[in-house]
Order: sequence, then C-alpha cells, then structure tokens
Amino acid sequence: MSFFITFEGVEGSGKSTQIQPLRQQLESRGHRVLTTREPGGCPIADAIRAILLDSANRVLVPRAELLLYAAARAQHIEQVVRPALAQGVIVLCDRFADATTAYQGGGRGLDAGLVKELNAIATAGLLPDLTLLFDLPVELGLSRARHRNQQEALLDEGRFELEELDFHQRVRAAYLALARHERRFRIVDATGDPGLVAARVTAVVDNFLTRGEQP
Ligand SMILES: Nc1ncnc2c1ncn2[C@@H]1O[C@H](COP(=O)(O)OP(=O)(O)OP(=O)(O)O)[C@@H](O)[C@H]1O
Ligand SMILES: [Mg+2]
Repeated sequence: MSFFITFEGVEGSGKSTQIQPLRQQLESRGHRVLTTREPGGCPIADAIRAILLDSANRVLVPRAELLLYAAARAQHIEQVVRPALAQGVIVLCDRFADATTAYQGGGRGLDAGLVKELNAIATAGLLPDLTLLFDLPVELGLSRARHRNQQEALLDEGRFELEELDFHQRVRAAYLALARHERRFRIVDATGDPGLVAARVTAVVDNFLTRGEQP
C-alpha cells in the first residue's frame, strides 16, 4: 500500500535529520520507501532549488518565488512522486505544498487565495496522506540551522535563514493554523535530542499505519 508522508516545519526543526531513520525503520518492516525533498527531488527541480535557496538572490520577488516553487513541485510530482506511489512505494517528502502556504502565504504575506490556487495547479490534486509538523520555537530552529550551515558549508542554501525572526514566527503560526484545520496533520514536538524526536515520529507513523487509513 502506498502512502505519501510529508515533513514540514520551520528552519532547523529536524525534518532532514528525521527522514532517514524513519525510512530505515519502515524498510526494516518490509515496506518499499522513497525519500525525496522539495524544492528539488529531480534534476530540473534541483536547478530551481539552487535559485530559490541561494542567499545571493536577495532580489527574488515574492511572486517569482511562488511561481518557481510551483514549477519545481509540478515537475517533481510528475517525474518522481506519482510514479513511486503508483508502484506501491511509501514516499517520504522533506517539505511539500504546506511549506508554500506557510512561507509564501504566512511569511511573505502573499494573498492566501493566490497561494492556494498555485498549490492546486502545482499538485494537480495530490495531497499527502499524513503530514508531520516538526514544531519548536523558531529561535531554537534557527540556531540549529545556522550552526549546521557553518559546519557543512551550506551557506549557499541559506536565503531563508537571513530573514528576520518575525518572518519565521509568521511561518510557524501559519503551519500551526494549517495543522488545526487539516486532519492529515500531526504535530511532533521537535525539541529534545534527536533520539527522542525520532521516537515521537515512530509513534505517530505507527499509529497511522496500524489504522491503515487517513488520520
Ligand atoms: N533534536 C535535535 N537536537 C539538536 N540538534 C538537532 C536535532 N535535530 C537536528 N539537529 C541538528 O540541527 C541542524 C538542523 O537540522 P535539520 O537539517 O534536520 O533541520 P531541517 O528541518 O531539515 O532544516 P531546514 O528547514 O533548514 O532544511 C542539523 O545540524 C542537525 O544535525
Ligand atoms: Mg532540511
């Protein structure tokens, strides 16, 4: 049975850290699993990712940003996500359309109707079965992300980390508002050490899989 599970949350909340242990755990139980990420996940979308995350691109205007995310997403879904789901694979995706609602809608303040329309065009109706929202105070996430970027020379992917605290607080609030309204969301407390967070993820996903239905 295929499932589409997305990982969401503010910068440095631990999405990319948690996706591999979940993959291993699901594989050890006999599931076929694909991990992927947005923006990116295939060569065309990766090229768009480089534009979107490059901290040199400060002049990128919000509407252009929105359209680039939509283009990357449309390509990634058609080329990677839908084919995998059609083969019965569990797809774990590091960020998806909710990130656009939170960042371009909540963070940038673009019109909610416009963001919704663009998401609908980009996804062509594909919705996650389960969305894990890694939630923590934005200051903690940002300090983790900045430390990581220095350690891993990821400075060229830091465009969003340059934003003010306010921006990230709006993003967090938009995510939490989505989680209140969409039944597919589960909020994961992203504070504490990675092992503790992984145990929370396992509990949520186990619960979802044993029920075998949408949350
Ligand atoms: N629970 C944790 N406690 C402490 N540090 C953590 C924890 N989880 C992840 N980290 C570290 O914090 C940094 C950010 O984590 P990670 O890259 O997984 O976040 P992310 O949500 O994917 O961020 P981004 O939104 O920027 O992609 C990494 O250096 C990671 O090793
Ligand atoms: Mg990440």
